[in-house]
Amino acid sequence: MPALVVGGSLIWTAAAGVRGAAGADAPFYANTFEKVPSAAAMTDIGRALFFDASLSASGKTACATCHDPRRAFGPPDDSPVQRGGRDGRRPGVRAVPSLMYTQNIPPFTEHYFDDEGDDSADQGPAGGRTWDGRAQSAHDQARLPLFSPFEMANASMKAVVAKVRRARYAAQFRGTFGDKVFDDEELAFKAVLMALETFQESPAEFYPYSSKYDAWLRHETSLSGDELRGLAAFNDPAKGNCARCHPSGMRQGAFPQFTDFGYAAVGAPRNLALSANADRRYFDLGLCGPLRTDLADRKEYCGLFRTPSLRNVCVSSLGRCGALLRRARDPAAEMVSAWEERSHAEIRRFARTVSRQRRILGSL
Ligand code: HEC
Ligand code: HEC
Repeated sequence: MPALVVGGSLIWTAAAGVRGAAGADAPFYANTFEKVPSAAAMTDIGRALFFDASLSASGKTACATCHDPRRAFGPPDDSPVQRGGRDGRRPGVRAVPSLMYTQNIPPFTEHYFDDEGDDSADQGPAGGRTWDGRAQSAHDQARLPLFSPFEMANASMKAVVAKVRRARYAAQFRGTFGDKVFDDEELAFKAVLMALETFQESPAEFYPYSSKYDAWLRHETSLSGDELRGLAAFNDPAKGNCARCHPSGMRQGAFPQFTDFGYAAVGAPRNLALSANADRRYFDLGLCGPLRTDLADRKEYCGLFRTPSLRNVCVSSLGRCGALLRRARDPAAEMVSAWEERSHAEIRRFARTVSRQRRILGSL
């Protein structure tokens, strides 16, 4: 899978028109602008777009409204979902993920082969953006919130481009992509998507590897006894077994993402706080729908969601980090269906390790 180790540099070289780099995405990255935009200029424009609430139908909702930079580009508060739409009041249907450490998510495939491990094993579905992988890249993904009726709710590409043309950074936009960029709506919209993607590939803001855990991996600090015990439980197949899906170790010199990009059914209980769930016929089944539509007939995929990175999970989703603890305190409740079947003794032993795991999660 050539696009796997993407990171900012490949996107950049591809955007700058260097041949051969972008693979299947070549048509998107091929430079069709009057000017060859620099990565630095696109990052700046992308940042301006990301924080611009005027890009929404309500004028109140920016990308940053739901993806708060102060909380690892995750939700600004602990509500189960955020609101958007034409009036800015319409609740969403899914938890807002952190956008940090997403730079290496491969495009979606039903047959994932992990090159570095046992390369004969087909690990099944992996990759793609959003919880069900229905967007192939960050630029593809950016279309979803711009048009979603409960996110930024724009009626058309034309509407988005008209807003950018009026924005305070419009001159900068022309300076980056060419004076005539707004004459061609499709071209201007492509510039919007590309700038948003390039901004999200900025290492300093999105993947600084600056956690205590990273410092420990660099031998610059030590972990406390509790943190080390937490890490051991996190990794131990007989205890947390978390690292099976949320790998925690260095690989070929690369820092861990705490996700294998694969899909799993953890059997999270129906969240009745979600207004979508007031409709008893509504079930969010991840890969097999309803938001994703191309795999609707694949019953074996129902209930599968992409494994998220756990980096910053105690920063970006305090609620979910806490939920882990609550579940562990009430072991009889959901632990059995969550994280696979275990005997009660195992669950109790696991419950004792969880508070320590929370320590390790807190250090990511
Ligand atoms: C109203 C809240 C809201 C707004 C506004 C919003 N998002 Fe999101 N974002 C979400 C939710 C919810 C998801 C998960 C969607 C899903 O799984 O279907 C998500 C998912 C994503 C993902 C996928 C992350 C991953 O791990 O696969 C990216 C990238 C993203 N958003 C970027 C953006 C950008 C760029 C904007 C602005 C153009 C934006 N979002 C605006 C709520 C929002
Ligand atoms: C079989 C693979 C698998 C294993 C093992 C696993 N997880 Fe996960 N984890 C997932 C998936 C998939 C999700 C997303 C589920 C969803 O949203 O429905 C998830 C979500 C989470 C979340 C919520 C993150 C967020 O951003 O919402 C936390 C916290 C978490 N896991 C911690 C752990 C811990 C701690 C362990 C070990 C006790 C563990 N996981 C074991 C696959 C796994």
